[in-house]
Amino acid sequence: MAVVLWLLLLSAFHAVVVLAQQRHFNITLGSSLTPITNSSWFSPSRRFAFGFYEQTNGYAVGISIVGMPKKIAVWTANRNSPVVQSNAVLLLTSDGRLIVQVGSQEISVINPSLAIGSASMLDTGNFVLYNSDHNIIWQSFDNPTNTLLPGQHISAGQELFSSTSEADDSHGIFRLKMQEDGNLVQYPVNTPDTAPYAYYSTGTDGKGNNVTLNLDDDGLLYLLNSTMSLKNLSDGGYPRGKAIIYMMKIDVDGILRVYSHSLNQQNSSARWSSTYDKCTPKGLCGLNGFCVNLDDQVQCSCLPGFDSVMPGNWSAGCERNFTAETCQLKENTSKYYTMRTADNTIWEDSTYVVLVKTTIEDCEQACLQDCNCEAALFKDTECKKQRLPLRFGRRDMTNSNIALVKVGINVLPEEGALPNHIEETKGKKIRIDILIVGITLAVFGLLVLGISGFLIHRTHVWNYRKIQECRSVQLCEDVAPRAFSYAELDHATSGFKEGLGRGAFGTVFKGILAEDQKVIAVKRLDKELVEGETEFQTEIKIIGRTHHRNLVRLLGYCLDESRRLLVYEYMSNGSLADTLFTPEKQPTWEERCGIARDIARGLLYLHDECDTQIIHCDIKPQNILMDDQFCAKISDFGMSKLLKKDQTRTYTGVRGTRGYVAPEWHRKLPVTVKADVYSFGVVLLELICRRKCVDLSLNENESILEYWVYNCYDAGDLDKLVKDEEVEGRQLERMVKISIWCIQDEPSLRPSMKKVLLMLEGTVEIPVPPSPTSFLSAI
Ligand SMILES: *[C@@H]1O[C@H](CO)[C@@H](O)[C@H](O)[C@H]1NC(C)=O
Ligand SMILES: *[C@@H]1O[C@H](CO)[C@@H](O)[C@H](O)[C@H]1NC(C)=O
Ligand SMILES: *[C@@H]1O[C@H](CO)[C@@H](O)[C@H](O)[C@H]1NC(C)=O
Ligand SMILES: *[C@@H]1O[C@H](CO)[C@@H](O)[C@H](O)[C@H]1NC(C)=O
Ligand SMILES: *[C@@H]1O[C@H](CO)[C@@H](O)[C@H](O)[C@H]1NC(C)=O
Ligand SMILES: *[C@@H]1O[C@H](CO)[C@@H](O)[C@H](O)[C@H]1NC(C)=O
Ligand SMILES: *[C@@H]1O[C@H](CO)[C@@H](O)[C@H](O)[C@H]1NC(C)=O
Ligand SMILES: *[C@@H]1O[C@H](CO)[C@@H](O)[C@H](O)[C@H]1NC(C)=O
Ligand SMILES: *[C@@H]1O[C@H](CO)[C@@H](O)[C@H](O)[C@H]1NC(C)=O
Repeated sequence: MAVVLWLLLLSAFHAVVVLAQQRHFNITLGSSLTPITNSSWFSPSRRFAFGFYEQTNGYAVGISIVGMPKKIAVWTANRNSPVVQSNAVLLLTSDGRLIVQVGSQEISVINPSLAIGSASMLDTGNFVLYNSDHNIIWQSFDNPTNTLLPGQHISAGQELFSSTSEADDSHGIFRLKMQEDGNLVQYPVNTPDTAPYAYYSTGTDGKGNNVTLNLDDDGLLYLLNSTMSLKNLSDGGYPRGKAIIYMMKIDVDGILRVYSHSLNQQNSSARWSSTYDKCTPKGLCGLNGFCVNLDDQVQCSCLPGFDSVMPGNWSAGCERNFTAETCQLKENTSKYYTMRTADNTIWEDSTYVVLVKTTIEDCEQACLQDCNCEAALFKDTECKKQRLPLRFGRRDMTNSNIALVKVGINVLPEEGALPNHIEETKGKKIRIDILIVGITLAVFGLLVLGISGFLIHRTHVWNYRKIQECRSVQLCEDVAPRAFSYAELDHATSGFKEGLGRGAFGTVFKGILAEDQKVIAVKRLDKELVEGETEFQTEIKIIGRTHHRNLVRLLGYCLDESRRLLVYEYMSNGSLADTLFTPEKQPTWEERCGIARDIARGLLYLHDECDTQIIHCDIKPQNILMDDQFCAKISDFGMSKLLKKDQTRTYTGVRGTRGYVAPEWHRKLPVTVKADVYSFGVVLLELICRRKCVDLSLNENESILEYWVYNCYDAGDLDKLVKDEEVEGRQLERMVKISIWCIQDEPSLRPSMKKVLLMLEGTVEIPVPPSPTSFLSAI
C-alpha cells in the first residue's frame, strides 16, 4: 500500500517536473535581438533576461535580473572582448550558432561543441542551450563569471573573477577559487594559488576533491562535499519568496557578498560578506600604493615619493615621482636620495636582507647606502630591506611597522642646515637638475660631511650580527634614564646659571655634561609638587621608556632629598611659541603643516602606542620644542604622572579665558585624551593663522581665535585667516576643518589623534565640521 502511494507520489512529482520543463520558453532558430529594441529573451516569469545590457561604453551580452531599478547582471558572455555598439545584432542562426553580428563581422557568443537546436532562459537564472534532441549541451550555471545563484554550484577547479567596475564587467583584479583540495580561497589575479597571496579562505583544505560552493533560496551559502554539508558561510534563513532573489557575488572590491534583491520593494541589501575590513583584499591599491581603512571608508594612497599612474584607477598603482638616477655611485647615494617614513604601513614581505638589533636611523642609513634597497620596513629593532615594487600595501593602526621609502631628493635644506630626512616638508622643493651640479655639490658637500661623521661612527652596525651584542648593551644604557647626582647637575649647569625659561612646574637651565660634552636642558621642579620618591622613580621609568622622534627625550633625573630635577636633550631652536609668534622667524605654510604632523605623531604615540597611556594635559606652543633640524618635539609630557594628583589641574588652568584648555576641565568632567585633542586643535589654529589663540589687542570679533576662525569658515571667508600669505585654498580648508573638529566642545565629537593624523596626511576625506558649540546649545 505504502509502495503504491509512494509510486503515485513519485509519478505526480515526475509530471510536475515534466510540466515545468515544457513551460520553458523555446528560443527558436532564427530569433534575434538588438540592443535598443527587443533587447532580451525573458524567462517565463520575467525574473531573468538574456540579451544585451548596458556597460560604460556600449553593450555586453549576458543575463540580468529584470525589474530592478538598476540593471543587475549575473552572467556575462565574452567578458574580456570589447563591448558592442547599438548597431549590433544577437542572432541564433538557422544553422545553430549563437553570434553577435556587427556589420559583416561575426562574434561567437557561446560556442558549444554541438549545433544548437533551441535555447531557453529559465526562471532560475540559468540560460540553457539544447541540441536538436532537446538535450542540454551548454548552460550558464556551469560557466559562472562573478555570481552564484541558488541551484547553481561552483565545483572544484572553477574560478570566479570580479568585474573591473560596476559598469564594466570585464575581468577585474580579484578571483575566487574552489580548489581541488576542498578549500575555497580568494586571491588577487595573476598570483599563484599559494597561501601568501590568499586574503580569504574557508580553511576547508583536505576535505576532498569534490567540495562545491552552493547557495540556497534562503540566502544560505555553504560548502558541500558529495555526501554532506561541510561548512556554512552565511547564516541563511532569510525571507524566501518568488519576489526575492538571492545571489552571491565577488564584488569589484574583491569581497564576497550574499545579496538579496526584492522585486516587490525594488531594493537590495547585502546579507553577508566575507570580511568587513575593506582593505583586506590584497592589491586593492595597486603596486606601491597602500590602503587605509577608517570607519569603513577605504582610501588608497601612494607611498611617499610616488604618484598615481592613472589617477582615479588605483589598480594601476603608483610610480616613482622622480627619476631614479646614478645608483652606481654607491658612496654618494645620499646625494640623490633621502628616506621618507610612513607609519603603521606594511606590504607583502619581499625582504632580501634583515638587519637585526638596529635603530630606525641606522635602518635609514643602511638603505640609503645600498643601491639595491628601495624601501625598508622597520619594526622593533629589525630593519628589513626591500626592492620595488611594493605590493599589497596597507596602513593598519594596530601594526607598529614603520615603512621607510627611498625617494629622490627634491628638498633643499634652508640656510645650509642639513636636510631632515625624516620629516616631509622642510625648505623649498626643487628638482635636481644635473645642469646645476655646482649648486647641488655645494649643498650636499655639507650633507656628506655631516653624514660621513655619522657613518664613521655607525658603520659597524651594518655588519649584521657580529657586533650587535655590544651595540644592544650600549643601546640599553642609552635608553633608560639615568640617575644624576645633584652635584653633577650643579656642575653641568655651572650652578644653574643660564636659565632657558620658566615653565609651569619649574625652571629650565642649559647645561653641558662633563663626560661627553652633550648639551642638556635641566628642569628643576618646584618643591612640594612631587609625591614620594618611589612613585616618582616608577613614573620616571615609564616615561623614560617612551621613545619617539616627536617627543623630547628624557635623559635622566635627580632625586636629592627634596630636590627633583629632570634632564632632557637640549633643543637648539627653542619653542614653537618663539618661532610662531615672532614675525621674522615665522615658518612657511608647508613647514607649519609639517610641524602640525610632528605634534600629532607625538601625541598619537603618547595616547595609543606607549606602554601606559599618557595624557599630556598641557599642549601649547611653549611646550613644543624645535631641534636643530626644526623637527617639532613635544616636551613636558608625563608631567601629569609625575606630579601629585591634584597638581595638574591647578597648574594647567587658564581660568576664565578660552585658551588651550578643553572645556571639560572647567566643567569638572572626567578628562581624557580628548582634552589633548582640543589643545592640539587650538595649536593648529595658531599654526594656520600665525597668531595667539587669545589676542586682546585685536578687535572684539577677532580676539578669540576659535570664534573668529569658525565665523570665517562659516562665512566661506578663509583667506582672511592667512592674510597676505599665499596658501592653496583646498589645503587651507582641510587644515581649518581639522582644527574645528578638534575644538568641538563635546569631547566625543573630537576625532582621535589617529584620525587627526590621517586627516593631516591627506589620506582621508574630512567631513564638514559642526559649530564647536552646537552640541551644547542643542541640549
Ligand atoms: C522546443 O523546441 C524543440 C525543438 O528544438 C521542440 O522539439 C520542442 O517541442 C519545443 N518545446 C516547446 C515547449 O515548444
Ligand atoms: C520584436 O520581437 C517581436 C516578436 O519576436 C516581433 O513581433 C517584433 O516585430 C520585434 N520588434 C522589433 C522592433 O524588432
Ligand atoms: C564526486 O562527486 C561525484 C558526484 O557527486 C561522484 O560521482 C564522484 O565519485 C565523487 N568523487 C569522489 C572522489 O568522491
Ligand atoms: C565528506 O566530508 C565528511 C566530513 O569531512 C567525510 O567524512 C566524508 O568522507 C566526505 N565525503 C567524501 C565523499 O569525501
Ligand atoms: C548549515 O545550516 C543548515 C541549515 O541551517 C544545517 O542544516 C546544517 O547542518 C549546517 N551545516 C553545518 C556544517 O553546520
Ligand atoms: C527593502 O526595504 C524594506 C523596507 O525598508 C526592508 O524591510 C527590506 O528588508 C528591504 N529588502 C531588501 C531585500 O533589502
Ligand atoms: C611629486 O612630484 C611633484 C613635482 O614633480 C611634487 O610637487 C610632489 O610633491 C611630489 N610628491 C611627492 C609625494 O613627493
Ligand atoms: C586600470 O588599470 C589597470 C592596470 O593598468 C587596467 O588593466 C585597467 O583597465 C584600468 N581600468 C580602467 C577603468 O581604466
Ligand atoms: C662622489 O662621486 C664623485 C664622482 O661623481 C667622486 O669623485 C667622489 O669621490 C664621491 N664622493 C664620495 C664622498 O665618495
